[in-house]
Order: sequence, then C-alpha cells, then structure tokens
Amino acid sequence: MKTRVLGKTGFEVSEIGLGCWQLGNDFGPLEDKDAEQILQTAMAEGIRFFDTADVYGGGISEQRIGEWRKALAKPPIIATKVGRNAALYPNGYSKAAVKKSLQESAKRLGVDSIDLAQLHCVPREVLFDGDILAWMEDLKQEGIIKHFGASVEMLDEARFCCEHPEMASLQILFNVFRQDAVESLLPLAEKNNVGIIVRLPLASGLLSGKMSSHHQFDEHDHRSYNKDGAAFHVGETFNGIPFEKGVALVESLKSKLPEGQNILDVSLRWILDQPQVSSIIAGASRSSQVVRNAAASSLPPLSKELHVLLADFYRDEVRSEIRGGI
Ligand SMILES: NC(=O)c1ccc[n+]([C@@H]2O[C@H](COP(=O)([O-])OP(=O)(O)OC[C@H]3O[C@@H](n4cnc5c(N)ncnc54)[C@H](OP(=O)(O)O)[C@@H]3O)[C@@H](O)[C@H]2O)c1
Repeated sequence: MKTRVLGKTGFEVSEIGLGCWQLGNDFGPLEDKDAEQILQTAMAEGIRFFDTADVYGGGISEQRIGEWRKALAKPPIIATKVGRNAALYPNGYSKAAVKKSLQESAKRLGVDSIDLAQLHCVPREVLFDGDILAWMEDLKQEGIIKHFGASVEMLDEARFCCEHPEMASLQILFNVFRQDAVESLLPLAEKNNVGIIVRLPLASGLLSGKMSSHHQFDEHDHRSYNKDGAAFHVGETFNGIPFEKGVALVESLKSKLPEGQNILDVSLRWILDQPQVSSIIAGASRSSQVVRNAAASSLPPLSKELHVLLADFYRDEVRSEIRGGI
C-alpha cells in the first residue's frame, strides 16, 4: 500500500483508506464481528486512514472503531466529523456545543485528542459565516483536536475552505461520474497544501459495476430511503444520479472500456491518478471489498487515452444527470 501526505496534517496516510459509514449500519445491518473483521482486514491490507462521523449509526461506527483500536500497538490515523448531530444541526451551532460533540467523539474513539476533525457538511451560511472555523482553531489550541478539515457538498464551499490558513484537509465527492474538481478545486488545494480526501469513489457502489436496475436495498440502507434525497443531500447517495439512470450509465461506460479493464479498478485508479488526492476513503460492507479496493494502490496509472475517454464520457453523458448541484 502506497502512502501520501495529507495536506497540513503532515500525516502519512494510505492511498486507500476505509470509509466507516457502513460500520454504523447505514448500508444495512452489520454484526459487531463483521464490523471488526472489516477493520482487521483493512489493517492487514495496509490501510492506515479511517474516516467516520459521530452520526454514523448514532455513534456506533465510532464506538466500534474505538473498541477495536484499544488492542492495537500502533493505531492508524482516524478522522471523524462534527456538525450533523441533533444538538447542532441545523441551527444549534455554538463553540460549547461543537466542543461537547468532539469530546463525546474522542471518548467513543478512545483517544485524548482527535487526529482530524472535519466539519460535516454544515449549512452553507454557518460555514461562510466563519465563526465555526475560529472555534475549530481554538479547539485545536486546546488540544481537543490535532487538526481540522471540512467535508463539503459544493465546490464553492470547498474553495472557500481552501483559503483558510489552518484548513488541513477537504473531503469531497469525487469520482469518474463527478469530475469537476479536477479543474475547479484541485490546483487551489495543492497551492494551499490542503489534503484531498475522496468520498463516494464508487458512487455508493454503482461504479463497482455489480448493480442492476432491479437491485434491492435494505430499508435501513440510505440507498433505499435517500435515493432521491428525502433524508439528506441527494448527492450523498448514488452521487445525485437517479439510480436506474446510474446503472444505465455504468453499463454504457463498461461497453466503452478497453478490453481487460474493469470499471471498479478504472474508477479507483482514475482518482489516484490525480496527484492532489491524498486518500480515497472507499466504503465497504464486507472484508472482500476492502481487499479488492486496497489493490488499486498497486495498479499502474491509466493511459492518456483512457483519461480522455473518461473525461468525454463524463462531460457528454453524466454531468447533466447529477441532481443537487456540484
Ligand atoms: N458527508 C460526508 O462527509 C460523507 C458522505 C458520504 C460518505 N462519507 C464517507 O465516505 C465513505 C465512502 O463513501 P460511500 O461508502 O458512501 O460510497 P462508496 O465508497 O462509493 O461506496 C461504498 C459501497 O460500494 C460497494 N463496494 C465497495 N467496494 C466494493 C467492491 N470492491 N466490490 C463491490 N462493491 C463494492 C459496497 O456496496 P454494498 O454495501 O452494496 O456491498 C459499499 O457499501 C463513507 O464510508 C464515509 O466514511 C462521508
């Protein structure tokens, strides 16, 4: 597993990280032993960067990571998020409430100081107001967190964050079905030494290539109840693309790929081919997926021709299908 530096944190993180939303049972129920096996497998594959949030399963994801972490001689980097729990979202933001949320996360994770705390898609007006960023600076001074970053939905929010002098990292929606950041964000992030963490690399699993339009999701899986954005931002589920359309686009792209290339490897490798990306936090609901995704770090870069094909396909066929803005 190759590593890259994560922006201003200076942390060496694995190119493939583990997204731990699944460990909160938000992609369907997961037994404790299966969650632990996913975490163990990730470590065995060289994954040293884990992303979670206080709201994943109401704290279950953080708790499972904390339990597992206890036994490790050399724990990996764990990033969590703050800003979407019921005490804060949508209008309960105060320094005291943010601090309390982070202290609760630290307790669940079993750490004295959180490696990286990311603002979790806080409302635009809260972000742009700027107070919350000043609170994060203070909380860093107080030692509650080591670094702070932000997870955002829109690219203008990402660019705003990049200008903050202490913003260590940005977590963005970025994949072969959402490519705008290549030109409109990554150069700025690089200039300002803001590490890029990529979420939804497989567009909630669509880009694994395994889904058909008849695919059934568990009723507790956000891909069932949020496929059209009924519960939270539509972009967080299938990248904002209507599910059946997404499946059709995947089939169309598969038919255009050169012989011997599969869509999952191409999707992960395309992201790693962007040098400004520090880590892809691929989500996994079983260990075999962790193993498969980790292998992308060893694949060779895609050819120039394939990059052109993917850029053209995105521009001509995918971009206009994305709901919720970019
Ligand atoms: N607002 C935010 O900050 C925010 C929002 C969303 C996500 N995130 C973070 O980003 C992480 C990644 O995003 P995501 O999990 O939503 O999307 P993702 O990584 O694009 O998709 C994950 C899903 O893809 C499928 N998958 C993964 N690897 C596979 C493989 N090798 N073969 C076949 N299928 C595979 C699995 O689906 P099945 O479960 O159907 O097998 C898995 O649950 C999350 O875990 C979370 O940590 C943050």
